[in-house]
Amino acid sequence: NKQQNTFPEGFLWGGALAANQCEGAYLEGGKGLSTVDVIPSGKDRFPVMSGEMVVNTCDENHQYPSHEAIDFYHRYEEDIALFAEMGFKTLRISISWTRIFPKGDETMPNEAGLAFYDRVFDACIKYKIEPLVTIAHFDVPMHLVQTIGGWRSREMVDHYVKLSEVLFNRYKDKVKYWLTFNEINMILHLPFIGGGIRFESGENVEQIKYQAAHHQLVASAAATAAAKRINPAFQIGCMLAAGNTYANTCAPEDVFEAMCKDRENYFFIDVQSRGAYPQYALNQLKQKGIKLTMLEGDEEMLKVHTVDFISFSYYASRLTSADPAVMTQTEGNVFSSLKNPYLKASEWGWQIDPLGLRITMNALYDRYQKPLFIVENGLGAVDTPDENGFVSDDYRIAYLSEHMKAMRDAILVDGVPTLGYTSWGCIDIVSASTGEMKKRYGYIYVDKDNTGAGSLKRTPKKSFNWYKEVISSNGGIL
Ligand code: BG6
Repeated sequence: NKQQNTFPEGFLWGGALAANQCEGAYLEGGKGLSTVDVIPSGKDRFPVMSGEMVVNTCDENHQYPSHEAIDFYHRYEEDIALFAEMGFKTLRISISWTRIFPKGDETMPNEAGLAFYDRVFDACIKYKIEPLVTIAHFDVPMHLVQTIGGWRSREMVDHYVKLSEVLFNRYKDKVKYWLTFNEINMILHLPFIGGGIRFESGENVEQIKYQAAHHQLVASAAATAAAKRINPAFQIGCMLAAGNTYANTCAPEDVFEAMCKDRENYFFIDVQSRGAYPQYALNQLKQKGIKLTMLEGDEEMLKVHTVDFISFSYYASRLTSADPAVMTQTEGNVFSSLKNPYLKASEWGWQIDPLGLRITMNALYDRYQKPLFIVENGLGAVDTPDENGFVSDDYRIAYLSEHMKAMRDAILVDGVPTLGYTSWGCIDIVSASTGEMKKRYGYIYVDKDNTGAGSLKRTPKKSFNWYKEVISSNGGIL
């Protein structure tokens, strides 16, 4: 029955992008250099993203995917018109910090950068597309990395809050939904991309990462406070790289290990949503010998200014074992996980688990009792256009429709309140983990390859019309 299958009225269907993966124009309009601008593609990418390899600028021996990306900076009008044609109700984008504050520590923002996002939001509003804005998506001004060591420094809180206040004041009548940090738990896994942190040999890496996490958590709460002051109607969300962890066997040791793995991630959202460090985390930090420096007022700030909704990315579930001999890494995933024999995987080894989305949604809602927003999900795949440039991406349609059905079950059968769904990379963009163009997620093909060659021409794929029908039927065709 079609009626029973439709999503709640007002459900926000759309797509998601991040500035550094789509905009390009990396030095235009007064923009300064950001962490992502010095992260190359190729074999050095991972060591740089994790903070093991120190880079301060670009060199001729590497390619830098953010520099041109898909040139959204100049083509946003065409791209947003295509999103509107699909019927998008919302578009998730992120702000490039160094367009607004090129070095990060200026007192006055850069007007050209602010004007760019005004144009982007106006284009959205023209089509009644609700912007959903991530303030920091893997993006720290390089100047702040070089002068204060990125988020390892407490001073970042003030720089971030200043940025947030400028954005809230400027766009208070155009944007209602804000996310403070993309995948805030990423700082533990890829500290340079997550927080502009790199390490010197001999440093206590865990100590630095958790202190930086504390700074981001305080900054998130302080920005939430500022948001509500500036416009009480704003809705502020946290953002977790989610995906529940399964136990490799029903041995209680494995089940306990899976619970602990999930807590490594929940830790962040426990603070942002419940307003305090959970006791398990405090005990663990103590056991690890990590001493957090908290300033007076931090606890109060965290307690009072919690988020309104829980947003998350979901690509895969995870699998773990208490037995170190069993633990091997799956390919290409920053979250260490065993291979689940019940699941197929993408060409990049990301395991495909639609029911895992329903499990994750239920777990998050059970824990936080706040509305969810799925702000990333999708299949990174190799697309091969035919002689007319058309991509028949049935594999992507299959992936997305299975996940959407699982989401529908979570909403309609299990009763999980959910604000919306923005699939990742709604137009092909560069991959965050590999820097490749070849790993495509979009409904719209962009003519550009891994070497940087291509006309940048946009061509709707088969999934474009399919998603259009999903949206116009409010999920009824699924
Ligand atoms: C998330 C990030 O981790 O996954 C995105 O928020 C990223 O920035 C997405 O692009 C997909 O990962 P990848 O590596 O396939 O681009």
